[in-house]
Amino acid sequence: MSETHAGMKVILFGATGMVGQGVLRECLLDPDVERVLAVGRSPTGQRHAKLREIIHKDFTDFSGIESELTRYDACFFCLGVSSVGMDHERYRHLTYDVTMAAATTLARLNPGMVFTYVTGRGTDSTEQGPVRWARVKGKTENDLLKLPFKAAYMFRPAGIQPLHGVRSKTSWVQAIYVVAAPLLSWLARNSPKYMTTSEKLGRAMIKVARDGYPKPVLESEDINAI
Ligand SMILES: NC(=O)c1ccc[n+]([C@@H]2O[C@H](COP(=O)([O-])OP(=O)(O)OC[C@H]3O[C@@H](n4cnc5c(N)ncnc54)[C@H](OP(=O)(O)O)[C@@H]3O)[C@@H](O)[C@H]2O)c1
Repeated sequence: MSETHAGMKVILFGATGMVGQGVLRECLLDPDVERVLAVGRSPTGQRHAKLREIIHKDFTDFSGIESELTRYDACFFCLGVSSVGMDHERYRHLTYDVTMAAATTLARLNPGMVFTYVTGRGTDSTEQGPVRWARVKGKTENDLLKLPFKAAYMFRPAGIQPLHGVRSKTSWVQAIYVVAAPLLSWLARNSPKYMTTSEKLGRAMIKVARDGYPKPVLESEDINAI
């Protein structure tokens, strides 16, 4: 365990989602994580000595809860939506505006913080490519990397196999996971470029926040190799 990060204090966004549930599980199990503050619009339904929750309604304005968001070492930002079937402006708002509102607040309040953001495989760092969702995620990543955090890391998983009871909030995604479970399991073992697990993703985020990583963008194979 690194001395500077002994007893890591973590803020988690999106703890009720598929990615966030997995990250929360690993945080609660990891002895290096001292406590977790989950900020969400709905409760996780979990109880644990390390876990505290803030139910917040306006994810573009955190001024009312700023005093609760200081003295944290890491933020795992797992809040995010699928672009499938969503109006582009709404997708841009929920992806870019919401993420930047939280991140700019946290960077100001916690200059020593490590910020990790979950995007996805295919994110477009040039912001110029033909795929709209990928441009939005690319701009979000690029602007996060400009903020005055101690460090920021962009996690780009491809597929994620949910383990240990983790479920997607998006019903069609959950249905696919149930039907395709054997295939996902095979891919998670044999195809690190295309599949990771909720457990590996959560553990990788904790390790990178604690120990750092040689580059700011982690693809699926990087996540699996940690
Ligand atoms: N699942 C995958 O296989 C996969 C793969 C690659 C990348 N990703 C990326 O990972 C991120 C999270 O995906 P996920 O699968 O965990 O999604 P999910 O299961 O649908 O969960 C979404 C999370 O975001 C929160 N959220 C959504 N809209 C919100 C809003 N308007 N205000 C406040 N909170 C809101 C949800 O809170 P509520 O519970 O209150 O709705 C939930 O905690 C996304 O950016 C996604 O692109 C996912």
